[in-house]
Amino acid sequence: MSSVETRPEQTGSSLIPTLPGAHYTDPAIFELEQSRIFQAHWFAVARGSDLPTAGNFRKVDVGGESVLLVRGRDGALRAFLNVCRHRGAQLCVEDSGSVRRNLQCPYHAWTYGLDGSLVAAPNLNSMADVDRKEYGLIPVALREWLGTAWVCLADEPPSFEETVQGAVTARLGDPAAIDGWGIDTLVVGRRIVYDVKANWKLIVENFMECYHCATIHPELTEVLPEFADGYAAQYYVGHGAEFGDEVAGFTVDGRAGFDTLSGVGENHDRRYYAITVNPQVFINLVPDHVIFHRMYPMAVDRTIVECDWLYPQEVVDSGADLAHSVELFHRVNQQDFDACERCQPAMSSKAYAKGGVLVPSEHHIGEFRDWAAAAIS
Ligand code: FES
Ligand code: FE
Repeated sequence: MSSVETRPEQTGSSLIPTLPGAHYTDPAIFELEQSRIFQAHWFAVARGSDLPTAGNFRKVDVGGESVLLVRGRDGALRAFLNVCRHRGAQLCVEDSGSVRRNLQCPYHAWTYGLDGSLVAAPNLNSMADVDRKEYGLIPVALREWLGTAWVCLADEPPSFEETVQGAVTARLGDPAAIDGWGIDTLVVGRRIVYDVKANWKLIVENFMECYHCATIHPELTEVLPEFADGYAAQYYVGHGAEFGDEVAGFTVDGRAGFDTLSGVGENHDRRYYAITVNPQVFINLVPDHVIFHRMYPMAVDRTIVECDWLYPQEVVDSGADLAHSVELFHRVNQQDFDACERCQPAMSSKAYAKGGVLVPSEHHIGEFRDWAAAAIS
């Protein structure tokens, strides 16, 4: 039997198929995903605290569109398409920065307020010649939740409550449970940006399963022994993986971490929760910190992952050494992304033309597979 003939339907009823390899390699499929997934859903673009003061801006790629986040003079965070309304120059080319009063296009100097309105255009007899509202920057829908700014490029964004907050509730089983971690009050203790040479779906699928934990995550399975059996915490609604008996904290060697977050009750203490919010956010909750991943798909075979380790302000201000706390999931990330990069070249192999299979402990990935495939069909 040749490898391409090894199809799921021939391998037994407990195995179900993955997406075909082309879904991880075909630029045309990636283009469809850009418009129908990343532009169509709420997309986490930054931590609100990345833009603390008026005039701070950040440029992010969302579904192939350049989006500008700007902190206004009124303290509000806004998002706009990063395109000058005159002749279409990219308004900001730097990834982030700060302006004093306005955003000025470097081409012919049309000038926009921090609220996106057009405030000046040189060599016009009068600004009355130009409808300032009509030629203001094009706004993009923005919501802030969990200290995170989420934008949506759809003309009619889906319900944030259902698609984002609902995904968290579906995982934890209780709409109020997430409040215990007080994520909006936490601050970034460490940020690591990973440039992963793999399709974004490989990263999501990897994050959703723990079949690989015993093989590639020795430190994590030491802290969370139940992961050694291959069942991910997010397989069960409301279940948090319990720390091992000898483990004092969620650290690289199981030593004690920091004080349990004040809102985390006994039922969540000494437990680890993992949440996926489609299409590009992963959240890990542990008693003393939160790990928040935002994925930025850059190409069919390249994804930037920005990962924040979030702690209470007083922990960061104390100058405490975060290394043992950060190192555990940094290693997990490296191990996971290495695995994804190992798979990516094989996605274009004949052996994977019809895809692979999911074993029972990975069956929940099938829902993500169906969701991703339906979005572009
Ligand atoms: Fe921006 Fe002309 S393109 S001012
Ligand atoms: Fe993993």
